[in-house]
Amino acid sequence: MKIGVIGLGYVGLTTALSLAKLGFKVYGNDKDKEKMEKLKNGICPIYEPGLDELLVEMKEKGNIEFIDNISETIRISDVIFICVGTPTNEDGSPDLSQVEEVSRIIAENLNGYKLIVEKSTVPVQTAQWIKRTIKLYSHENAHFDVASNPEFLREGSALYDTFNPDRIVIGVESERAKEILLKIYEKINAPKLIVDVNTAEIIKHASNAFLAMKISFINMVSDLCEKTGADIKKVAEGIGYDRRIGREFLSAGVGYGGYCLPKDIRAFYYIGKIHNLDFSLLELVERINNSRIDRLMEKLKKALWHLKNKKIAIWGLSFKPNTDDIREAPSIKIVKRLINEEAIISAYDPKAMENFKKIFQNIQYGKDKYEVLKDAHALVILTEWDEFKSIDIQTIKKLMRTYIIVDGRNIFDCEIFRGQNIEYYPIGRTCI
Ligand code: UDX
Repeated sequence: MKIGVIGLGYVGLTTALSLAKLGFKVYGNDKDKEKMEKLKNGICPIYEPGLDELLVEMKEKGNIEFIDNISETIRISDVIFICVGTPTNEDGSPDLSQVEEVSRIIAENLNGYKLIVEKSTVPVQTAQWIKRTIKLYSHENAHFDVASNPEFLREGSALYDTFNPDRIVIGVESERAKEILLKIYEKINAPKLIVDVNTAEIIKHASNAFLAMKISFINMVSDLCEKTGADIKKVAEGIGYDRRIGREFLSAGVGYGGYCLPKDIRAFYYIGKIHNLDFSLLELVERINNSRIDRLMEKLKKALWHLKNKKIAIWGLSFKPNTDDIREAPSIKIVKRLINEEAIISAYDPKAMENFKKIFQNIQYGKDKYEVLKDAHALVILTEWDEFKSIDIQTIKKLMRTYIIVDGRNIFDCEIFRGQNIEYYPIGRTCI
């Protein structure tokens, strides 16, 4: 079976390499020429643990090839995974123009039966639009199926998630499409849920919306903990033991970011709206998430009074650890606010500084986590990278001007700062 993957972002590239690893012959295509050049030369365009090694391995084995011409990619493939971007328009609606464009090109290059698999996160009924588009633009009697097979991988653990998923959702309209997708995922040991395409599409949006809701819920409760002297970590543990709630995704902090959760919550809200349904719950989820930035700035100001000309050290710029991705990262909003307040910013991140420099050229960047602390009035932690989880109190005291730590990711126990004359402000807990 020959598989074409159109769109080689986080989802597309991970999918392409995983399918190659499973033994299929995979053809990857992306319209970004620079990215294609890198991939052809065995260079992974994103930082994702294990992906660069897998790229080299699969290229050497001959299981993956990168083809510039999208029409050719379609013609030589039996199965085509659509993994192009689905960004958000100004009004919150998902921009599906790339999906539409690929569908048209597929239509023009159909040369025998093909299975078109939509993997990008798309609104319910998109598969029907893809089907209609292909029918409309293919002048011959087109022979194809459209399936929905949403991806649930997380950045930072993309490969692990792909080979060890909680479930594989297969949305199909024909027995043939079902058999092909079951064959593709034969070697992956996970529950396989066979549903209709609309159901599969909703499963994806509902999953991400639910995850975002869980985070905003715990963040809302964390505000109450701060007001009343309770401890959000213990509250999360206490509610998480209930198997109906579950322990994961209950870390209070500076809010969710990344390419998926913010975009998907907006899209799902929009989908509800166009169907005249009250999805305002999701609007509140986003509002609570946005207010995390205000909360963090309030903490900083409460500790430092004025921020003008104060040096603020930042640990962590990526939206989560183990990725260089800064899309919708809280760090971007915080840095903008700090610049408005005329603070002096010195930032460090193990992987995301190059991406951050593309947006903010005029802030300082440090070589390591301690360099940025020199003469700083406060340290603000925005990403819970492992290397930030140990801290040398003496070095802090030697380097910092005033000993203030605002921890947007709740990584330390209050105890380690007790009696050290260091003011530690975590989220949803009171340490001083
Ligand atoms: C998410 C979904 O988890 C994944 O299934 C989907 O395929 C893509 O979107 P991802 O965006 O890679 O994955 O990261 P995730 O681990 O879900 O974290 C999203 C954001 O939520 C991060 O900014 C993270 O810091 C934040 N988060 C997560 C919290 O603030 N608290 C938590 O308890 C968990």
